[in-house]
Amino acid sequence: MKAILLAGGKGTRLRPLTLHTPKPIVPIFNRPFLLYQLDLLRQIPSIDEVILSLNYQPGRIEDLIGDGHDLGVKIRYVVEPAPLGTGGAVKYAEPYLDDAVVVFNGDVLTQIDLAAVLRLHREREARATIVLSPVENPSAYGLVETDDDANVKRFLEKPKADEITCNTINAGIYIIEPDTLDRIPKETHWSIERSYFPSLIERGERFVAYVSSGYWIDIGTPDKYRQVHRDIMDGRFAAAPFRNRATGTAIVAKTAKVDPGARLEGPCFIDEGVTVKADAQIGPYTVLGRDCKVKEGARLDGAILWPYGEVEAGATVSDAILGRGCQIGENAIIGAGTILGDKSVITEYGRSGR
Ligand code: GDD
Ligand code: MG
Repeated sequence: MKAILLAGGKGTRLRPLTLHTPKPIVPIFNRPFLLYQLDLLRQIPSIDEVILSLNYQPGRIEDLIGDGHDLGVKIRYVVEPAPLGTGGAVKYAEPYLDDAVVVFNGDVLTQIDLAAVLRLHREREARATIVLSPVENPSAYGLVETDDDANVKRFLEKPKADEITCNTINAGIYIIEPDTLDRIPKETHWSIERSYFPSLIERGERFVAYVSSGYWIDIGTPDKYRQVHRDIMDGRFAAAPFRNRATGTAIVAKTAKVDPGARLEGPCFIDEGVTVKADAQIGPYTVLGRDCKVKEGARLDGAILWPYGEVEAGATVSDAILGRGCQIGENAIIGAGTILGDKSVITEYGRSGR
């Protein structure tokens, strides 16, 4: 069985972080996001090939993930010449499909029993099965209405406030029979949400829903990107590196050097090669990527620093996300909501954010 990860979006809502790091491989702690999704797909042992459907900076993803040899599953790269949209991308991968295929949006992380979804798909002899997740506000997602027998009755992408009739949304996980791709024209921009799903309903084809109430998040905005870190640190979503750790644990990698005079308050994550000097304070929900340097008396709180960041003496970084290799000058104050792209430099006493 095959799976397709739709991972070709530009990640615009995560800019500037995604200018040099496509969304599928933004780091979550010390692992590219995509690896968390491959962990999920491993639940179905019969998935023997994962097709990565890409077009934005595919080389960076391929360099990092490789052929999957080390990950225990074959990875095939299918790169569209131009973005074809979610439906066009699946169509573009059609030559590599045989049987029912699992399709995953490349930015969702969820606690789900995928094998149960596949069972439902087969029991109901569905042409397509979609996973739904209940959310408070469906407006940023695809709203999906079902009947009492879990048949999908309506699919409405990004509903307006007065169009919201239920709280179940498209969780971005589907099982699709490849012959239903017949309606998608080749090499044409096509939306799976706006065209393919509605067409199943219009044609009266069996299209069923599996409602999953487990943890679910789309990491595609800065707030959600920070949220997923918090959720993993707090154990709301059990995943590496915090799986099976007591709540509030400060994880410090083996080769990190934290001065005994520094103060760490968990939960937090300090990766390999990091140095933290005396009197520095690392507050809860801080993530320090590989080889970051935090100097004397600097204070971090809820900050996510990608690898090679440097925070000079006396600087403060709170509730911000800093791309690779950012330099924060002495006594600078980086406040909530700040997002800095790779290699940003903030001069001493500089200020940003709230
Ligand atoms: N290969 C390829 N080509 N992938 C694409 C393209 C494309 O042209 N466009 C988007 N993708 C990928 C993105 O990388 C992402 O992983 C996924 O398809 C969904 O695109 P988003 O841009 O993140 O869509 P969204 O979050 O606004 O909405 C989608 O996801 C929601 C759940 O998170 C829709 O599927 C909604 O219905 C759904 O509720
Ligand atoms: Mg998304």
